[in-house]
Amino acid sequence: MKIIVTKCDFRTLGADVLALPFSSVELEKSLSASGVDLQLLADFKGDAGEIVVLYGVHKGFSASRIILLGVGDGNKIDDWRKAAVAFASKSVELKCQQIAIDLSRIGDFALTTGQSVTSLAAAFVEGAFTGSYRFDRLKSGKLEKKGRDEKSLDITELVLVAHLDTVDEIDRGVIDGEIVGSCKKMARDLVNLPGNYLNAEDIGKAAEESGKRAGFHVEVFHKKEIESLGMGGLLAVNKGSDQPPTFTVLDYTPKGVVRAVVVLVGKGVTFDSGGISLKPSENMGEMKSDMSGAASVLGAVEAAARLALPLRVIGLIPATDNMPSGTAQQPGDVITTYSGITVEVGNTDAEGRLILADALTYGKEKYNPDVLVDVATLTGACIVALGYSVAALFSNNDKLAEELFQAGEQSGEKVWRMPLWDLYSEQIKSDIADVSNTGSRGAGSVTAAKFLEKFIDGHGNWAHLDIAGPSFAPKGSGKVNGGTGFGVGLLVGLLKKLSS
Ligand code: BES
Ligand code: MN
Ligand code: ZN
Repeated sequence: MKIIVTKCDFRTLGADVLALPFSSVELEKSLSASGVDLQLLADFKGDAGEIVVLYGVHKGFSASRIILLGVGDGNKIDDWRKAAVAFASKSVELKCQQIAIDLSRIGDFALTTGQSVTSLAAAFVEGAFTGSYRFDRLKSGKLEKKGRDEKSLDITELVLVAHLDTVDEIDRGVIDGEIVGSCKKMARDLVNLPGNYLNAEDIGKAAEESGKRAGFHVEVFHKKEIESLGMGGLLAVNKGSDQPPTFTVLDYTPKGVVRAVVVLVGKGVTFDSGGISLKPSENMGEMKSDMSGAASVLGAVEAAARLALPLRVIGLIPATDNMPSGTAQQPGDVITTYSGITVEVGNTDAEGRLILADALTYGKEKYNPDVLVDVATLTGACIVALGYSVAALFSNNDKLAEELFQAGEQSGEKVWRMPLWDLYSEQIKSDIADVSNTGSRGAGSVTAAKFLEKFIDGHGNWAHLDIAGPSFAPKGSGKVNGGTGFGVGLLVGLLKKLSS
């Protein structure tokens, strides 16, 4: 999708579809100013993402179709993203390839939202990526690249019509929006690839490709190196597998000043069967998405590099699948993690925390970062608590928690803070090892976070994001099914805050 910013009169623009944005406030006035039939007011309210398609020739307009696009009450930046998602999604549905939107009034919208024109334009472009996303590469005929481009009905061109005095700001927003949008797309592709297309080695390869594309260093540790490092958590989870684990290090160091060093850890379980503590078979296939944390870390590091943020950003991705077999770890086993802390494995399905434990300790020890964040599809309990749209946030630092909350509001990837009180540690005590990987019933997301906290070696600026709910849209959720890329926008938002 090529994005073009132009200053022409939007009425004369030839496109398959032209969107006219309207806020729900003063709708009547702005609709009549645009020359649209006011009878429409009965149906169109201007709510965020609301769409009315107008067919037939419209006086003075050159586009084949016109879309009235609601952008909400003009107070929330996320409403712009929602509008863009709806517009792009509708355009794909209508097989429109050249699409355009009139942004000549974006300056007014910027005033009411209290956001810059640049941010609004970025949110819009990012939303257009989200809304036009489809995962069809495993459909027959698409598997081979031949003929792919001729047949493709993807949106080829998004034209943003700007007013003279906002062109520069929109241009800047387009760059940001394209970066976040395309990194989110990469994350979604990785999540959607099933286990037989994406294993631990493939995650390493995806990181290497990303590093080449965006200009940052990548190193992949293979099984031998993981063994000599003594990453006992990652190795224990990998024991049941026929495929070796990897531990990928992405390292973006800016050319100039480094305002902070940030370590991002992402859970990379390419398929989670539960291991010997086998999961029920219903919807088990969705556990191909258990590497969503890894995908969002990959996306965020690439975005940081492409945005040339003044931060050193290190991504750490422990990756393996979690399989049952004669060689698999058994419930009751005691393992020694990279930190030296021993863990009684009460349940082999609580595998994420075992591989994250190694990565967190390694990240703290090797880089002593200013900020340490991990992202993981860690617990089903998190979905019970917060549902499919919101991630749980745990942090031992109020300022970091607030920054992540704000980044969530801005990026539309919402987080809600949960407690880390010590009373929850009671539940993960072990009689025979230092700690157990499973708690008793109740507060499953909190006990998982308390477990991770033991492996950060007293780091004072750590956050854990449990994205089990929002990382994957199940069938019938009303959204495009599958990986959502949740985490990329949120982490980029945090990184931008840490840059200023
Ligand atoms: N990957 C799962 C968590 C999950 C569940 C993510 C549903 C997305 C959707 C994780 O490894 C897991 O199995 N957690 C267990 C922990 C339990 C055994 C303590 C869970 O949540 O049931
Ligand atoms: Mn599991
Ligand atoms: Zn898992």
